[in-house]
Amino acid sequence: MAIFVTGGAGFIGSNFVLDWLAQSDEPVVNLDALTYAGNPENLASLEGDGRHVFVKGDIGDFDLVIDLLARHRPRALVHFAAESHVDRSIHGPEDFIQTNIVGSFRLLEAARAYWGGLTAGDREGFRFLQVSTDEVYGTLAADAPAFSETSRYEPNSPYSASKAASDHLVRAYRHTYGLPVLTTNCSNNYGPYQFPEKLIPLCMHHALAGQSLPLYGDGLHIRDWLYVGDHCSAIRRVLEAGTVGEVYNIGGWSEKTNREVVTTLCSILDELCPRNDGRAYAEQIVLVRDRPGHDRRYAIDASRIERELSWRPAETFATGLRRTVHWYLEHRQWLRNVTSGAYRHWLAQQYGGCACGCS
Ligand code: NAD
Ligand code: DAU
Repeated sequence: MAIFVTGGAGFIGSNFVLDWLAQSDEPVVNLDALTYAGNPENLASLEGDGRHVFVKGDIGDFDLVIDLLARHRPRALVHFAAESHVDRSIHGPEDFIQTNIVGSFRLLEAARAYWGGLTAGDREGFRFLQVSTDEVYGTLAADAPAFSETSRYEPNSPYSASKAASDHLVRAYRHTYGLPVLTTNCSNNYGPYQFPEKLIPLCMHHALAGQSLPLYGDGLHIRDWLYVGDHCSAIRRVLEAGTVGEVYNIGGWSEKTNREVVTTLCSILDELCPRNDGRAYAEQIVLVRDRPGHDRRYAIDASRIERELSWRPAETFATGLRRTVHWYLEHRQWLRNVTSGAYRHWLAQQYGGCACGCS
């Protein structure tokens, strides 16, 4: 028995692989193209561990995927691989279309061919789990109820549109070919190994470097935050007990404005790693130009997964953020390694040369 994971060198994928192998001896075949977001260093603790088979390659490479499936005969495929950053999708949507739509399509084709060749019993037990996002549901008014599994798809960015397209393909492969699929739609994750282009690790990195902490627009956009370890436990639970063909929303009941997130991060840093000049990190916060088409509010109604699969997050935002800050403080070299030349180029493109976006 083995499971097949795509994108397992990225933020959530690497947390998933590490958590999986900490709790089970079932091997993991990990296919990752190692784009700028994929980092083998995340998996360094698995070096020499025969339960982890890492393959550098593209989910869109049908021949490679079919060959790996035939050789390792996994009982499940968990699909994390994606282009995942909204701002990058605004600058250049092409990669998002290629990986998230065309790549997912080719992966589904390979999974369908492999699954079709299994014995009846193995076919029955096989699962294709699509890791998706709350962003496919669009944006919420301040007083609207949280997204449920039946909320309408209304994606607003090239990223969320490409994820929505791949969710639709997954659904169609169930409906048309009978492929045993599961889909999860999760809210914003944070935690160890998150690439510092996303809000929390970016502000962590900039705070320590004495740079500005850029809040888009008025800083009052709302996201619903979940510690990455809780996302991983939810995926394991859905894989284990989810009903084939169903969708499960995953979230932490933890809506915060971006300003609240960053000020909380700053106060944890004030306590754990005070600035040399004794001033508050929050003084580094600046408002910068808004993200085009910026969704105002996301919120996940996670009652279905709680009710049907008895899943609950272990961390609150307060405990999860504190753990995360500790992790980044203890992994300064990891942060230094990922904030190299290509990263600086991204900052210049996104924030206009200076990290505060003022130029
Ligand atoms: P990430 O950008 O950190 O990692 C993506 C990984 O996929 C990287 O390792 C990258 O190398 C790999 N990859 C990209 N293109 C590939 C390709 N063509 N073939 C093989 N590998 C490729 O992303 P993440 O934040 O870990 O997100 C993982 C998944 O979870 C994505 O599908 C994302 O849409 C979804 N998701 C993310 C969040 C979040 O808050 N980060 C929330 C909900 C859902
Ligand atoms: O909701 C789930 C989604 O969460 C995932 O599907 C995406 O893959 C993931 O990237 C994330 O998308 P967001 O756009 O919500 O995450 P990001 O960290 O980029 O931004 C969080 C909020 O903070 C958002 O309202 C934009 C704002 N922001 C972000 C950055 C990078 C800022 O105000 N300043 C910044 O510099």
